[in-house]
Amino acid sequence: MRNVLVFAAAGGALAAAIACGKGGIEQVGEIDLDGGAPDDSVILGPDNKPAPTGPAGSGLATGLPCDVQAVVENRCKTCHEGNAGAPRLLDYADFMAPSKADPTKNMALMSLVRLKSTTSPMPPPPAALPNADEIGAFEEWVAAGTPKGGLCTDPPPDGGVDAGDIGDAGPDATPGCASGAKWTQGNQKSPLMHPGVACNACHGKLGGPNLAFAGTVYRGGLHDVDDCNGTGPPPPVTVVITDKMGKTVNAKVNEAGNFYVEAEQGGPAKGPGGGGGGFKAPFRAKIVDGTKVRAMTGSVTSGDCNSCHTPAGKNGAPGRILAP
Ligand code: HEC
Ligand code: HEC
Ligand code: HEC
Repeated sequence: MRNVLVFAAAGGALAAAIACGKGGIEQVGEIDLDGGAPDDSVILGPDNKPAPTGPAGSGLATGLPCDVQAVVENRCKTCHEGNAGAPRLLDYADFMAPSKADPTKNMALMSLVRLKSTTSPMPPPPAALPNADEIGAFEEWVAAGTPKGGLCTDPPPDGGVDAGDIGDAGPDATPGCASGAKWTQGNQKSPLMHPGVACNACHGKLGGPNLAFAGTVYRGGLHDVDDCNGTGPPPPVTVVITDKMGKTVNAKVNEAGNFYVEAEQGGPAKGPGGGGGGFKAPFRAKIVDGTKVRAMTGSVTSGDCNSCHTPAGKNGAPGRILAP
């Protein structure tokens, strides 16, 4: 009985959205009550063929708007991958599912409610509270009636990864530690901490700053193990990140090989490379060392660089991010 009621409510929302669309009247308050209805349309790639789809973090099309996808990858995915305790929130269908706490709302609308909540915010403490950019990404999406997004990232240079190819780079990975130096101080807060480990995945659970972009650059050690220090200066190595609009931020690589750009928390820009506020996904990245450059050909929506650049490499990445 409950299911029937929920279905009827969703149908009502669709009718309301269509009515508003036809009349050309924007009634945000009415549309966002239950956030719109599921959309079965196919996502097309640049070649007009159906783009490969996958969950957030895979680099494939999730059906989410790019800026929402970026927030999910940077701040939510660490808990909402579908393990016990937190519902799976990785693609469009997940966000169209009814909330467990209040089935009259879908997960997209409930996400907005929880992002803005002062009593039970998402991500939950000790993680840094969401900033205006992060709330804004969900706010815009819900106000627009939660439309399906397109393909955010550029396909890899070989012209196409099928969903089936996504996985570890393969058995040629022989992990070591080229620098010979390792981080040994556990979760002691430091810009040098846990080189090689996905920074934001941990900060989302255990606290630490909200980093728009973070990772580790290695020299030579394509398959170096977690906590192995990467390359430090000299010579100075810089990570240059460019967003969809061409906005650029430079992050200096420190003694441990780590780099990061803090997401703005409403205050002035912080961090070695300036602030990470107002960035629009997808992002391009290159590593610059004097006059030499090593660039990522494709683009990504996740700022948690080490989540793909693991020792073996995930989601098609070759392994660690290397200095040029
Ligand atoms: C540290 C782990 C963690 C992180 C990070 C996190 N969540 Fe959650 N989330 C949970 C847990 C556990 C629950 C279930 C208990 C509850 O509702 O508080 C939950 C519940 C929710 C719910 C309610 C589901 C329902 O059925 O109503 C939504 C929506 C949600 N999270 C969205 C988000 C979004 C969006 C982000 C990122 C901006 C996020 N969460 C980040 C752990 C997390
Ligand atoms: C396993 C968990 C974990 C990982 C992985 C991790 N951190 Fe942290 N980090 C933390 C925690 C917890 C804190 C905050 C501790 C506190 O406030 O006492 C923190 C704090 C920080 C701080 C603030 C330092 C200060 O002096 O205030 C920076 C900068 C930082 N981390 C950078 C990084 C970078 C860059 C990476 C990835 C290369 C990373 N962290 C990986 C857990 C982690
Ligand atoms: C979704 C997974 C993913 C994420 C997240 C990711 N990368 Fe990559 N990266 C790849 C893949 C796949 C390649 C190889 C294909 C290419 O160059 O586009 C790659 C290649 C690279 C290369 C070139 C490697 C070489 O040897 O030529 C650099 C440099 C790089 N990435 C830097 C970054 C930085 C910096 C970040 C964080 C802003 C990042 N990557 C985040 C998947 C990812």
